[in-house]
Amino acid sequence: MVAGQGVKLPSDIASITHLRLADNWKRTAEQLVKHFSEKLLQDQPLKQESTLIAVDPEVSQRQISEPLPAAWRERTLYFGSEGAKAWLHAVNEDGYIPKNHHHKIERALIACLDRLDIRSFVSFGPGDGETDKRLVARLKSRDPWLQYIPVDISDGLLQRAIKVVGEEVNVPIGILGDFEDRTAFIGRQLRRHTVSSRLFSLLGNTLGNLDAGEHNFVENTRNLMGQEDFLLIEVSIIGPNWSKAKDQRLRHESYNEGYRRFICHGIARRTGESVESIFKDFEKRVSFEVELPAMDAQGVENCIAIHTKAALDNHVVGTIRRYGWNALKTWFENTMRFKIITAKAIFRPGRIIGNGIILARTS
Ligand SMILES: C[S@@+](CC[C@H](N)C(=O)[O-])C[C@H]1O[C@@H](n2cnc3c(N)ncnc32)[C@H](O)[C@@H]1O
Repeated sequence: MVAGQGVKLPSDIASITHLRLADNWKRTAEQLVKHFSEKLLQDQPLKQESTLIAVDPEVSQRQISEPLPAAWRERTLYFGSEGAKAWLHAVNEDGYIPKNHHHKIERALIACLDRLDIRSFVSFGPGDGETDKRLVARLKSRDPWLQYIPVDISDGLLQRAIKVVGEEVNVPIGILGDFEDRTAFIGRQLRRHTVSSRLFSLLGNTLGNLDAGEHNFVENTRNLMGQEDFLLIEVSIIGPNWSKAKDQRLRHESYNEGYRRFICHGIARRTGESVESIFKDFEKRVSFEVELPAMDAQGVENCIAIHTKAALDNHVVGTIRRYGWNALKTWFENTMRFKIITAKAIFRPGRIIGNGIILARTS
């Protein structure tokens, strides 16, 4: 409470902190900020005991009303606690992505955020939450009041991200929702629980996996964003030496045991078989097909798509799209009307594939 000269404080609030204003406004403001920062930060519990989860009823109903929608491919892989377990096994095993390359990507993501003052970090598809945890640790150094809001279709991954990232910053709410089909619900939660400037992220080539393609997602996200907000994406890109013969994801032996089970679990969810029975016949039951260039009228030109299929009926289990770096940047600016603030490409040794990072805002 700030009291000016001649202002009488009623006696019943006299015990509340008050500062008597002298002529020095700057010093008064500094004292005020110092006081509240110390008071509120010191009172913040180190770890939250619980976090609210806003559940989209349309999405949660899918847990108990099989079959899952025919349009769900990637979403079938991640959905629910079963999907979360399968994904965590896949990424925690060696060979999912070379560790030193992964560290390079994280360092580049952190460098992108270096000078941003972000109040709310909205993570679309946090996965195991580990990368997000390192990003918030950096963002928090500029604003200790940073809050983190994960959005995921998998309750298991959502809760895991809340726990992992909640060790660093406040998580006011997690959103169990679908950012491809159900953005109106997500938008309502974000309006209620976030403050600008906000960072929206979609990392780990999730853009290249989306069932409904990149245009649908980026357009929907654009509609959620205000002028002070940022979008951060990280995707798989094709290097100058890419060829079908050299892409490891078209060869069975490049898939570690956990990743194999993750794919088998996607097939099992549809056919009702056991994961193990598909897993033991992985080479026969799973096939890969490349679409070159992948055709999507509004999507990024000339990207390639690797479809993972159930070999017995050719049903697509999931897709990895890899983008041409220049085509992706052009698409963001010309088709999606974003202004790119930072763009960085990091290639793996041999320049066959790599990862592209784009930080952008609505122009
Ligand atoms: C490829 S993983 C990426 C995980 C993490 N960002 C990383 O970099 O390791 C995709 C993530 O997005 C979530 N996801 C996929 N499609 C979704 C959708 N339509 N709505 C909400 N979450 C989705 C998955 O559950 C998973 O957490």
